[in-house]
Amino acid sequence: MTRYSRITGTGSYLPPRRLTNAELAAELALRGVETSDEWIVERTGIRARHFAAPDVSSSDLATVAARNALEAAGVQASEIDLIIVATSTPDMVFPSVACIVQNKLGIAGCPAFDVQAVCSGFIYALTIADAMIKSGSVSRALVIGAEVFSRILDFSDRTTCVLFGDGAGAVVLEASDTPGILASDLHADGKYVGILCVPGHVMGGQVLGSPLLTMDGQAVFKLAVGMLEGTARAALTKANLTAADIDWMIPHQANLRIMQSTTRKLKMPLEKMIVTVDQHGNTSAASIPLALDVSVRSGKVKKGDTLMLEGVGGGFTWGAVLLNY
Ligand code: ACO
Repeated sequence: MTRYSRITGTGSYLPPRRLTNAELAAELALRGVETSDEWIVERTGIRARHFAAPDVSSSDLATVAARNALEAAGVQASEIDLIIVATSTPDMVFPSVACIVQNKLGIAGCPAFDVQAVCSGFIYALTIADAMIKSGSVSRALVIGAEVFSRILDFSDRTTCVLFGDGAGAVVLEASDTPGILASDLHADGKYVGILCVPGHVMGGQVLGSPLLTMDGQAVFKLAVGMLEGTARAALTKANLTAADIDWMIPHQANLRIMQSTTRKLKMPLEKMIVTVDQHGNTSAASIPLALDVSVRSGKVKKGDTLMLEGVGGGFTWGAVLLNY
């Protein structure tokens, strides 16, 4: 019998501090940085984002999201045999957030590691977990995206600091006799390192370079749309399906205009696109599992629906997972 993997539960968590655009603009004005709700909504579709308290780390957000996903799946933490966390904002240089989450969940022994593919991280992590389940090496995985991007924002740069937020999303992925994940498609192109990066690193105990995010927004925008369209089409081809078979598009929630352009290029109605960027901002690797959980819990996404998850981010990295929920 063919072995597949299937999502059996979703969960998410947003830190309680929510800032509307107007509230963020008022805080930025105190630093002499000028922006407005009108500009942010028109260019990005973002209306609000959540920021974690200073003593809260990615592992804290990830652990709550994981517990919520476990509860939804009816699975005990002790039954998990793989933990993968997608993050670019880990608690420490090492150990991984996944190891810290494992300990916070009160379990030990199963493999746990992080995946760093920035905003495509959850797509990468889900693809790895799917392959490990299909190969028979594990049967029940926690796949998490968790970020505290507020820690790496330059609040004197209005072109980036209004775009991002903090949060976490998680899924339980289990071995199944029926598919589940139908196809994955992953890519990277390192020649674009410079257009979206945090160019600092630790050397001799000191941060060398800048530990804050820099981005050429227009270059990112132009690349992202084509990459997202291409990877969605590739995943459909691998599964022998067409865009008409997709019930819900769940793109990385970076910018409403990027999401709309991609969905239009696939000739899909915009009503089939899940939008949470308006309320969460861009939560990088957390955005797709967060959007998935919100749409499952709101009743939009139902058992048996065909979902296209797709992401693009720094690296550049991009990819898609097509699945039967
Ligand atoms: N508030 C007010 N004005 C602003 C702000 C702001 N927050 N930011 C920029 N501006 C100004 C600029 O200074 C510029 O003013 P000028 O014309 O006087 O020079 C003007 O607005 C236009 O700036 P542009 O950069 O041309 O604005 P654009 O329409 O390209 O929008 C944006 C910028 C939103 C960053 C857009 O390029 C974009 O969304 N790019 C995609 C980036 C993205 O989503 N990245 C997410 C991370 S990557 C990922 O997750 C895929």
